[in-house]
Amino acid sequence: CLQVATNVTEQKHHVTRETRGKNLGLCRGFRGCTVWLTGLSGAGKTSIAFELEAYLVSRGIPAYGLDGDNIRTGLNKNLGFTPADREENIRRVGEVAKLFADSGVVAICSFVSPFADDREMARKIHKDAGLKFFEIFVDTPLDVCETRDVKGLYKKAREGVIKGFTGITQEYERPQMPELVVNTHGYTVRESTQKLVTLLEQEGIIP
Ligand code: PPS
Ligand code: MG
Repeated sequence: CLQVATNVTEQKHHVTRETRGKNLGLCRGFRGCTVWLTGLSGAGKTSIAFELEAYLVSRGIPAYGLDGDNIRTGLNKNLGFTPADREENIRRVGEVAKLFADSGVVAICSFVSPFADDREMARKIHKDAGLKFFEIFVDTPLDVCETRDVKGLYKKAREGVIKGFTGITQEYERPQMPELVVNTHGYTVRESTQKLVTLLEQEGIIP
């Protein structure tokens, strides 16, 4: 159970978003935002996230990929996969992504984030800070993810070795109104990523 901090006051930075935008990266202008990829394990979130990160960085736009597998070995190594732990995972990542976005970086988050309320919390953290948040549903069907089974986790979940596995023994709540739906079945990573690039161009993140 979380302790609530008392007697803390927000401290204002000296650097404005305008100043950050003028001075950061090759493409001038404030581009900080969060791209949030949600979907089943094995859907292709990490592949698309890291492809997009490489694309943006190669064009001089600061971007950083925050990925479930990585965050769970560091910042969130004390969390498991119960609904409560997943909520706390997403809350912390939502807060970290907000800081990256506020600093002028495109934060690319790839998390299963199976619960709609948790994704809404991450969205609200950004909305309250006046930062753009793009929810991307990597909509790869369960049977395709299970056939891929890149990490052998579906096999373990079916055998009962892993409990509370998303799509098998725990719920995945499909996004109702994501900014974008991406299909990966029958497309290359590059083709799937191109849909995100187009969205970010339309939104003025990529010039
Ligand atoms: S969540 O739901 O957003 O908190 O999960 P996330 O932080 O993205 O971590 C998902 C990765 O952890 C591995 N893994 C599991 N996923 C789902 N359910 C269970 N029970 C589980 N146990 C381990 C798995 O490698 C996930 O990575 P991806 O890339 O999604 O396959
Ligand atoms: Mg992954």
